[in-house]
Amino acid sequence: QRVALAFSGGLDTTVCVPLLEEEYGYDEVIGITVDVGQPEAEFVEAEETADALDLEHYVIDAKDEFAQLCLDSVRANADYQGYPLGTALARPVIAKAILELAIEKGCTGIAHGCTGKGNDQLRFETVWRGSDLEVIAPVRELGLTRKWEMEYAEKKNLPVQGGNEGVWSIDTNIWSRSIEGGNLEDPSYVPPEDIYEWTTAPTGETETIELEFENGYPVALDGEEVTPVELIEILNEKAGAYGVGRTDMMEDRMLGLKVRENYEHPAATTLLNAHKGLEGLVLTKDERDFKMQVDNEWSQKGYEGLVDAPVVKALEGFIAETQTKVTGTVTIKFQGGQARVVGRDSEYAVYSESAASFNTETVDGIEQEDATGVAKYHGFQSRLANQVTASIAQK
Ligand code: ARG
Ligand code: SIN
Repeated sequence: QRVALAFSGGLDTTVCVPLLEEEYGYDEVIGITVDVGQPEAEFVEAEETADALDLEHYVIDAKDEFAQLCLDSVRANADYQGYPLGTALARPVIAKAILELAIEKGCTGIAHGCTGKGNDQLRFETVWRGSDLEVIAPVRELGLTRKWEMEYAEKKNLPVQGGNEGVWSIDTNIWSRSIEGGNLEDPSYVPPEDIYEWTTAPTGETETIELEFENGYPVALDGEEVTPVELIEILNEKAGAYGVGRTDMMEDRMLGLKVRENYEHPAATTLLNAHKGLEGLVLTKDERDFKMQVDNEWSQKGYEGLVDAPVVKALEGFIAETQTKVTGTVTIKFQGGQARVVGRDSEYAVYSESAASFNTETVDGIEQEDATGVAKYHGFQSRLANQVTASIAQK
């Protein structure tokens, strides 16, 4: 009997390897790492740990697929309580890639090293529980603590160097880098500058870039066509250098726990700002108002790892309809930790300069003074209601 394990080479997944044999009776464990843009060092760590464990190990490249999902999330202006959904969107991509290979390799079980407190267990399992494989969560099911894991690793002589587990628990992919744990668990603790790797503290420098969108998807940077992965990687570097995209927040996890989270997401912030800026030019007020609700639903499902839910497809129907007009260019200025929209242009602009200008008197035959009647009626009902309450109060 073989079992596939979502493997990072960190402490949790390393102790899972012998435990899957000892506690769950599997004869063979295969480790699978999915590339969603983690730093090179993480693959080296996974590779080295797998070697030392004598673990059959595979790396699957899912960067393109993941980048595409990130750009889908831009069309939905997706964020959850201010966080642009990096970890959350990566999980279904990772889960599907692992499941596919697990089936191909004849596994009858599939396992992850998530704790019973987080979101990731739910995001993985919703994908896996659609299969016939036995879903196993050793850390949760055996009630493991970090302390127990360290002692077990030492007793078993498992390859866990101090380097495997740093001070912080970090999750990185091309869309975001999340830093949690340690002192950061205290919401009042001010993070030291060195938790940040993608962003440097803002300086006085500035830079201006131009992004081109087609149907709500960013397709070119400063006039050059770029693939989704290229664009995200370039923007992480560029915007990160100006300190763009730092979030320090209280996050309400799916199970109801509040956690303190720190994130870095320079490319995500840049693309989301640019996209919203362009939508502001081309969508009507009614479309913008309703789309905020649609976007919020999309974001909630995205956070829950449910991007394949039927409701998401339905929401995307509305989103796709609106995005047919989100074609044009946006100028972004990086300055002082911000990626600000400083210019936007589109042939779909719902904008008439002559109508909005203070320098022209008539618009399509409408005179300024035609607004007088509107001004007289505006707020009429509220004025009346306030008079009524005031006169009753005087009695
Ligand atoms: N809380 C975030 C989420 O659920 C990210 C957690 C990332 N994990 C980590 N060990 N840093 O999407
Ligand atoms: C975990 O608890 O395993 C990681 C954090 C999360 O899933 O949110």
